[in-house]
Amino acid sequence: MYRFLLKNMKTISTIKEIQENLRTCRKENKTIGFVPTMGALHQGHLELVKRCAAENNICVVSIFVNPTQFNDKNDLLKYPHTPDADCDLLKRAGCTYVFIPSVEEMYPEPDTRQFNFGPLEKVMEGAFRPGHFNGVAQIVSKLFDAIMPDKAYFGEKDFQQLTIIREMTRRMNYRIEIIPCPIVRETDGLAMSSRNMRLNNKERQEAALISGTLFESRKLKGQTTVEELKEWVIETINESPGLEVEYFDIVDGNTLQSISSWEDSSFRVGCIAVFCGEVRLIDNVQYDRL
Ligand code: PAF
Repeated sequence: MYRFLLKNMKTISTIKEIQENLRTCRKENKTIGFVPTMGALHQGHLELVKRCAAENNICVVSIFVNPTQFNDKNDLLKYPHTPDADCDLLKRAGCTYVFIPSVEEMYPEPDTRQFNFGPLEKVMEGAFRPGHFNGVAQIVSKLFDAIMPDKAYFGEKDFQQLTIIREMTRRMNYRIEIIPCPIVRETDGLAMSSRNMRLNNKERQEAALISGTLFESRKLKGQTTVEELKEWVIETINESPGLEVEYFDIVDGNTLQSISSWEDSSFRVGCIAVFCGEVRLIDNVQYDRL
């Protein structure tokens, strides 16, 4: 019964076909929203999709595990693929078109473009995952060119990615509104991520300490220096035998550069990457948001 109430969702695998369909929508003056994903969808993605469907006449979701953004080929091989479950979830969340291209469709020839986002890409994820943001910019620009949405939705969990995509959109004169969406968390605070499904039970329990420590650091903010707080976060998480902090930095949310005193910025964000066993998790906390 419920299924009859679901909107029809069309699955498309070529750029030509998605463009033909969207051309018709544009002629009918329909607005187009877009959520790019790599699949293995969880509630965090679905919140983006629901918002996209609510704010636009047409909601396009792409599922494409982009090889050029994986600096660690093992990570690419282990990336979960759950296309059937993904399509089922997307249908229920209000998606109109799911675009699932092949690697050959998106990269008929190697993409040799080199983006340079300057200081924005030299820190945090950019420093620890060389080439990652170049790959992200390659695929997101190709998807933007194919879909030409009015609005595109990105999660704040990938805070640096969001900042870099905003910058790419500005520089390339895309007339696309980038909509940031808040991090969606499990009940114990762990930021939702497709990688969480690779954690075993013990690791999953330990992983909750990451967000727990970030939330606690918000309370300590007024009482310590930036440096002391950074050390405290790193030490607290590293005390847990299964966790190892790769980096934790407190940065200005626009420039992504480290701050050394609280007065250096009014948009202060703590960004972290932690190995939980073999699984690398990222999270962040905004110190100026309640
Ligand atoms: O955040 C992601 O899932 C990916 O980096 C994105 C934006 C879909 C590009 O492949």
